[in-house]
Amino acid sequence: MNDEYLKLKDFWNNHFKDSKSDEVLGKWVEDENFNRTVKKYIKEGSKVLEFGSGRGWGLIELGYTVNIEEGIGIDQSINAVNTCNQTIEASKIKNLKFIVGDENTLDNYIDYFDAVLTVNTFDVITDEALENVILSCKKVLKNDGYLLVSINPDFPLSFFEEKGFQIKNDCIYRDNIFRSNNKTNDEWIEYLSQHFEFIEFVTFALSEMEKTYPRRMFVFKKV
Ligand SMILES: C[S@@+](CC[C@H](N)C(=O)[O-])C[C@H]1O[C@@H](n2cnc3c(N)ncnc32)[C@H](O)[C@@H]1O
Repeated sequence: MNDEYLKLKDFWNNHFKDSKSDEVLGKWVEDENFNRTVKKYIKEGSKVLEFGSGRGWGLIELGYTVNIEEGIGIDQSINAVNTCNQTIEASKIKNLKFIVGDENTLDNYIDYFDAVLTVNTFDVITDEALENVILSCKKVLKNDGYLLVSINPDFPLSFFEEKGFQIKNDCIYRDNIFRSNNKTNDEWIEYLSQHFEFIEFVTFALSEMEKTYPRRMFVFKKV
């Protein structure tokens, strides 16, 4: 594993060091595109993986949107995973669990999941590491299963500059830590289409503020 990748993983683990768990008792995302897309590609009774689950909002929201059989959130950050497991305990959610791991620890789940969700994670990983992450997500997905890749808004480079980030080779850094793999939509589609069939692109916003620069979601299928 290269140094840049180790540093970014460490950054995210520290980021969740003081995270507090929540009690999440139901759906909170109102965005139509998000809800429609999740319901369209994730069927009742499915098994779903969230790769890079962080504090777990994506998988928990998905679990309140569709009646899935089982959801597993995986994240390399022990701090994030501990917080998520406290949240699901406090929320009395029984069909989800969160585990510590990464692209190298998914061998028990080959062809296991009907869908894989990943939120704001592929876009924080360097290209060198991303290839293996994508291959791992592919191997745990059943044929005809869907991969839902949500990434951050398409902020202009000036936005990052104004906030004090550095830009190197079209990627975003702060304090020499890799923070964003800044591909265009077409580049993401082309990159992921090496392994999956591209199905749909949607945008969604989780707040009024995000309506100016909405989050992006690409839907792919394993064929
Ligand atoms: C920007 S955070 C997003 C967290 C969450 N999905 C969200 O939207 O709030 C990126 C997450 O990816 C995780 N991550 C980065 N590389 C990973 C890897 N190789 N395997 C598992 N998790 C990873 C980090 O620990 C972090 O929790």
